[in-house]
Amino acid sequence: MNNQFKKNIIFQKYEVTRIKREKNNIHKSIVIWFTGLSGSGKSTIANILENVLFKNSIHTYVLDGDNIRCGLCSDLNFSLEDRNENIRRIAEVSKLMLDAGLIVLVAVISPYRKQRFMVANILGKNNFLEVFVDTPIKICEERDPKGLYKKSRQKKIIDFTGINSLYEEPEKPDIYLDGTVSFKKNIKKIIKVLYQKNIICFSNILK
Ligand code: ADX
Repeated sequence: MNNQFKKNIIFQKYEVTRIKREKNNIHKSIVIWFTGLSGSGKSTIANILENVLFKNSIHTYVLDGDNIRCGLCSDLNFSLEDRNENIRRIAEVSKLMLDAGLIVLVAVISPYRKQRFMVANILGKNNFLEVFVDTPIKICEERDPKGLYKKSRQKKIIDFTGINSLYEEPEKPDIYLDGTVSFKKNIKKIIKVLYQKNIICFSNILK
């Protein structure tokens, strides 16, 4: 592609900045990025966490892989190239939401370390919490909420993560969650980190 046009694009600065928005809110903004196998519990944990934060007047939004693939990324498949593009777009949308002052919860498989490294680069390491939802594939397959493991075993899906497409576990996630323990325990763990990092100013929101 000819990138000549790029030199004619000039970034516009607006007076209402992220810092001003954060001052208006009772919290800072951050991206909480859940990675893990399909069926590991990413969406369920993001949903419960968002509910807890929302009830405490914290401004949030969830970007969920399946939902994003119904709209913004509906032109993408599950090839390596398209998965990379999926993650890049989600990272860029998250970046806008950071600027909007939100706590952004992202629930996408994001199977490759390189992809998550790209996300950290796009967002800036301090804006990004990598949360690994570690659920053994055997359990994900037993849960099989969408029947996709079954389909991939029947070879109806040829590139299903964990079965015939790679999932690279994070080596040093910011938060490690055991996807087989109670949701409450995992949510508490995340809230504790948000409090310790000064993102939210109260930690007793889960009794
Ligand atoms: S990612 O690999 O690009 O990060 P993403 O999180 O957006 O994946 O989408 C994963 C969801 O798409 C899964 O939860 C599952 O419901 C569905 N899906 C459909 N086909 C596949 C596939 N081949 N591999 C993984 N997930 C798939």
